[in-house]
Amino acid sequence: MTFSIAISGKGGTGKTTVSALLVHLLKNYGGQPILGIDSDPNSNLNEALGVDATMSVGKAREMLLKNKDKLGPYQRKEDYFNYLFQSSVEEFDGFDIIIMGNAEGPGCYCYVNNLLRKMVDDLSDKYPLMILDTEAGLEHFSRRTTRDIDILLVVTDPTAKGVLTAKRIQELIKTLNTNIRKAYLVVNRLPPRFVDKVKDLEKTSGLECIAVIPEDPLVQEFDLNGKPIPDLPASSLALKGVTELIKKLEIPEVPKGEISR
Ligand SMILES: Nc1ncnc2c1ncn2[C@@H]1O[C@H](COP(=O)(O)OP(=O)(O)OP(=O)(O)O)[C@@H](O)[C@H]1O
Ligand SMILES: [Mg+2]
Repeated sequence: MTFSIAISGKGGTGKTTVSALLVHLLKNYGGQPILGIDSDPNSNLNEALGVDATMSVGKAREMLLKNKDKLGPYQRKEDYFNYLFQSSVEEFDGFDIIIMGNAEGPGCYCYVNNLLRKMVDDLSDKYPLMILDTEAGLEHFSRRTTRDIDILLVVTDPTAKGVLTAKRIQELIKTLNTNIRKAYLVVNRLPPRFVDKVKDLEKTSGLECIAVIPEDPLVQEFDLNGKPIPDLPASSLALKGVTELIKKLEIPEVPKGEISR
């Protein structure tokens, strides 16, 4: 069983930055690799982590569509896709990454998407911890493409638009009766002078704030210079903020066992 943490929120509020910091700080959790899933079609979690990832599930899907009529008589489409899916998992030091890529394409069909849900669930279960960086917007909630989630972190910046999206997400997960165990607000990019605004953001969004991550000039500098998140020094305010966040997540300890991958 995996413990799953999904990160959502309005575009540009810092979902990928927070996801990358979580993967970086939690890698090798309990001595085992963790899984990062990038489900944003404009994927960049791997870039934020400073690792190259060439394969994606979108590409695997394309290859299946291209080659499905060339399979041998005893080769099942499902097995071939499973093979392609497995080869989209990229392995790094302490974490693996799977990039979902583009979900739909011309000629794509539901059969593959249904297979995929099960494959992602089966794959996640091999890891003690799964961090899911989602695309901006709410569509994936209504499509229910998000698997069972233990903790949903709804990231907002201190803006009216950001917190309104957080409120919509909160309402949506309630009305859709989604498979999310607990949802929290994360206030990112908060300038110190606005600390007393956190209560208002909580009230507007209807979500309890689990962590505040300050505006961090180092994160911006790194982004500008294409430097990866894991190179941030210990003095980074964002790194410290996410370290505090992790303490509150109550991630279960990993039972000692075999390394699965
Ligand atoms: N705490 C922070 N301090 C300063 N800059 C930050 C902080 N968090 C994120 N940023 C910057 O904000 C911008 C958006 O961050 P990020 O890409 O993580 O957002 P996102 O929500 O994943 O965006 P998208 O919706 O496009 O995927 C980036 O330039 C990033 O460097
Ligand atoms: Mg992003």
